[in-house]
Amino acid sequence: MVDLSTTWLGLSLRSPFVVSASPLSRDPSAIAAAVGAGAGAVVMHSLFEEQLVHEQMAAHRFLDARLDMDAEAQSVASGAFSLDAEPYLAELARLKKSVDVPVIASLNGTTPGGWTRYAKRLEAAGADALELNLYEVATSPDESGAAVEQRQLEVVRSVVTSVSVPVNVKLTSFYASVPAFVRSLEQAGVGGVSVFNRFYQPDVALETLDVDRRLVLSTPAELPLRLHALAVLCPTTTLSLGCTGGVHSGLDAAKAILSGAHVVQLASVLLQHGPAHVAVLHAELASWLDAKGYRSSAEARGVLDLRSAPDPHSWERLNYARMLEGWRPREGATTRGA
Ligand SMILES: Cc1cc2nc3c(=O)[nH]c(=O)nc-3n(C[C@H](O)[C@H](O)[C@H](O)COP(=O)(O)O)c2cc1C
Repeated sequence: MVDLSTTWLGLSLRSPFVVSASPLSRDPSAIAAAVGAGAGAVVMHSLFEEQLVHEQMAAHRFLDARLDMDAEAQSVASGAFSLDAEPYLAELARLKKSVDVPVIASLNGTTPGGWTRYAKRLEAAGADALELNLYEVATSPDESGAAVEQRQLEVVRSVVTSVSVPVNVKLTSFYASVPAFVRSLEQAGVGGVSVFNRFYQPDVALETLDVDRRLVLSTPAELPLRLHALAVLCPTTTLSLGCTGGVHSGLDAAKAILSGAHVVQLASVLLQHGPAHVAVLHAELASWLDAKGYRSSAEARGVLDLRSAPDPHSWERLNYARMLEGWRPREGATTRGA
């Protein structure tokens, strides 16, 4: 029997398969099915900065209008405005009771502010860890890349310092240097990073002359970008590493682990095939590891990272030149296009 147990964010997990943040966590029976099929942990869908700021603003407006109210009345009133976060906290408490694996609550935001105080409430409601999704859409030429990073680090610090549970940061791939930003995150006290957020790219609808905002689930074609980042990060950080985006099979999971992942986070594949599909990935990964002579997934972790791969240059710039140099058109392709 191959041992698939792993340690992620200081938590002992029985498998590296983590249910990624998605609507699945709203459905307790789906989560029970995923855990029954071998998932090692569950990340809840996110509470968004915009949601929490809206809630705080509503509370402030209400309290501002009643400044002469006594302290007891004020605390009752502010409690009445937890309309957006309360159901989430209740969902978290329910999930914690219903499964015997770690439950990770998720915050999603990028600007410093009072909303980060909700981290404390998530911890108090039983979250074993927090995931902070830095989903950034830079649209202003007035803010430099360095300023964006500083702003994000401020958010991270305020979350990390307000809780004692570990914090995992989910990153986009849009940094001039992912390893340098990850080092700053490490210095800010996070426990892990997950690469990468999928950037939901609206398409242009030519017929209607509008923007097509339909959400398209991932495919394994999105995995190599993540494998590359994992291979580069694995030798340069002691943080836990999660792979999110494009893991659709046990073999995809094997690739992520060989590149350095402690866990793989699954959303699209479970939305497509159902939460019990974790069992299929579990069996595929175990059987691949066994066939290659690994006794555990821990033994395979990082075997192909930037330091350990047989030819580490394959992950580097040098390979780009080699690859272009070695590329040949398929027979007939050039004449057909001429
Ligand atoms: C329908 C849907 C809802 C999602 N909701 C969230 C969310 O609330 N918070 C979050 O951090 N990521 C969310 N994600 C992103 C996933 O957690 C995951 O990182 C991403 O889909 C890449 O993994 P995949 O290739 O397995 O889908 C969502 C993804 C989907 C498809």
